[in-house]
Amino acid sequence: MCGIVGYIGDRDITSILLVGLQRLSYRGYDSSGIGILSDGELSTWKKSGKLVELETMIDGLSIQGNIGIGHTRWATHGIPNDINSHPHVNQSKKLAIVHNGIIENFSSIKSRLSKQGFLFRSQTDTEVIAHLIEYYMANASLETAVENALLEIQGSFALAVIAESEPDKIIAARRSSPLIIGVGDNENFISSDINPILSHTKKVVYMNDNELAVITRDHIQLKLISGPEIPLKTHQINWNQEASEKGGYDHFMLKEIHSQPHVVRTILSKYIKGKNQIQFKDLHRDGIDLKLINRFIIQACGTSWHSGLIGKYLIEQYAHVLTEVDISSEFRYRQMISQGNDVVMGLSQSGETADTLACIREAKSKFYKVLSFVNVKGSSIDRESDGVIYSHAGQEVGVASTKNYIAQIVTIYLFAIHLAHIKGKLSKDELVNKIDQLNKIPEYMDSILSKADELEAMAEKYYLSREFLFIGRGLNYPTALEGALKLKEISYIHATGYAAGELKHGPIALIDAKLPIVCISPQTSTYEKMLSNIQEVKARKGKTIIIATEGDKEIKNYANDLFYIPKAPEELTPLLACIPLQLLSYYIAVKLDCDVDQPRNLAKSVTVE
Ligand code: M6R
Repeated sequence: MCGIVGYIGDRDITSILLVGLQRLSYRGYDSSGIGILSDGELSTWKKSGKLVELETMIDGLSIQGNIGIGHTRWATHGIPNDINSHPHVNQSKKLAIVHNGIIENFSSIKSRLSKQGFLFRSQTDTEVIAHLIEYYMANASLETAVENALLEIQGSFALAVIAESEPDKIIAARRSSPLIIGVGDNENFISSDINPILSHTKKVVYMNDNELAVITRDHIQLKLISGPEIPLKTHQINWNQEASEKGGYDHFMLKEIHSQPHVVRTILSKYIKGKNQIQFKDLHRDGIDLKLINRFIIQACGTSWHSGLIGKYLIEQYAHVLTEVDISSEFRYRQMISQGNDVVMGLSQSGETADTLACIREAKSKFYKVLSFVNVKGSSIDRESDGVIYSHAGQEVGVASTKNYIAQIVTIYLFAIHLAHIKGKLSKDELVNKIDQLNKIPEYMDSILSKADELEAMAEKYYLSREFLFIGRGLNYPTALEGALKLKEISYIHATGYAAGELKHGPIALIDAKLPIVCISPQTSTYEKMLSNIQEVKARKGKTIIIATEGDKEIKNYANDLFYIPKAPEELTPLLACIPLQLLSYYIAVKLDCDVDQPRNLAKSVTVE
C-alpha cells in the first residue's frame, strides 16, 4: 500500500510525478504529495484526499526542478490529513522522504529523538526516518546516514530520500515493500510498480530486500544496506502500457467485468497448444515435479482466497490431491506441518500482498516448493516462487477484483486437469473434453453480459437494503462469499456469504420479510439440497434473488427475482454465476453514489500486514 514515484532528469518533473501518482493511486488514495529540488532548494506540496486535491493545489504554479519524489498514501499511522501526508521533512526542511510500509519501533526512536530536541510535526511512523537521517547526517554523507537509519529501524519499507546537501541524487531502499528502478538515458526513475515507468523506459531493475540504490541521472549504484555493491541486473519489459482508459465505460470495474470473456480467451490462447495440449512455461522453473506432489497448501487473501477455495474443489475432484486453503494472515502465525512433497501455492493478483508473500517466504525457508498463480509479472511473489502460472488478466485497475478472479479460476482449472492427466486420473479424451467445455465459457459469459440491464433493474429494487445474505453450496459456496465481498466493499452494505447448509445453524435467525437473500443455485449435484435451503428461506418470508440455470422452470416458484445463466458443467458454474453478482453489486454501488473504483479505506495492493 502507498505508492512511491521518483524522477531525476530533464523532463517536466511535475507531470512525471503526477502522472506516476495517478497510475499508482490504486495503492492508496487517502492523500498525496510531491517534493522537488530546484536549484538545490527543496519544496514540498501535499494534500489529503484524492490526487485531484493536490493537482488543484499546485495548479498554475510554475514548478521547476530536475529531481523529485512523490507519494500516494494509504493511512496506517495517523489520520489522512495534510500534515500526515508524505513527503515528510526533517527539522530544517532540507531533506524529504516518501515511504511505503510500517516502522514497528518508531515510537521508541521518536521518544529518544524528542528528548534530543527533535520536533515532530505529524503522527506518522515515517517522520522518524527523516529525523533519524538528519541525526546521522551530522557526521556522515546522505547515503551513510540513510544506511545508519535503516539499520536501526524495524519493519517494512520502500522509501526514497532527497536532500539539499546532495542535490544530484535520490537514495532509494527497500525491505518487504516493492520498489523498481526505471533505467533511462540521462534520466532515471523509481516507482512502486512498473506502471508509472512503462511509458518512459522498458528497462528496469527490480530491487530486492535490504538493497539500497544511489541514483543520479546517469548512474545507478546498487548495494546491500551497509554492505557491498551488487551488480546491476536489468530486465527488459516486453509489455505495453495497458490502456489506463475506461474505454467508454463509466468505471474501470464495469470495463473489467465486461472484459472477462476476452480474458478467458486470452488464457486459453496462452496455455492451450497444438491439439488441446496444456503447457505452462514457467511452472518448472525450479524443480517442481508434479507427479510427486502429495498435498497443496493454498495461501491467499480476499478474493484470491475465494478462488483458492474453488481451486481446492477442482484439484481434489480431478487430481485427487489433498488441498488445503488458508487465509495468509492466519496461516503465517501457525505451525506449518510438513507431510513430505507438499507444495505451497500462492494466489495473488498483485503478487505483492504482504501476508501472502510472508507465507511464501516462510514456506521457502522451510524448504517447501512454492508454486504461485500471479497476475502482475515481475512482482515479488512472481520472482520468489519456484514455479509460476500467470493469470493473464491484464492490468486490473478497479480496487474490487473481478477479471482476475475469473482468470485465477480458469488457470487453476487448467492446472487441475493438467495435473489429473499427469497423475493418470484423467484420460487424454477426458482432458480434451474438459478443454472443449472451457472453450464455450466466453460465449456463455457474453450472453450473461448482454443481460446486464436485468441486474440494473434488480439493483433499483434492492439498493436501499442495508443487509444482504448470499448462499451457495459446493463450488458455489465460494461464489456466495465472493458475491458478499463484492457488495460490501463497493457499496458499504453489510453482506455475508454462507454455505447454504449452514443457515439452520444460526444465520436463519436473521431472515425476515425485509432481508434479500441471493441464492446461487445452478443445476449442479447439490441442486436439490439448495432447493430445500431456498424453501427454508421462503418459509420465513425472505426475499430471494436466485441465480439459476436457463430452462429451470421449477425454481421460478421460489424466486422474488431470478437471473438465468447458461447451462454449463458443474465445475465451470462459478465462472458464470459470479458475473451477475459482480454486476448487481456494481449497479447497487452506482445507485448509492459510491466511489466504485476506489472504495473508501481500501487499496488495490495490500503491502502491509
Ligand atoms: O493482490 P491479491 O490478489 O493478493 O489481493 C488480495 C486481496 O487484497 C484482494 O483480493 C481484495 O480482497 C480485493 N479488494 C477484493 O476485491
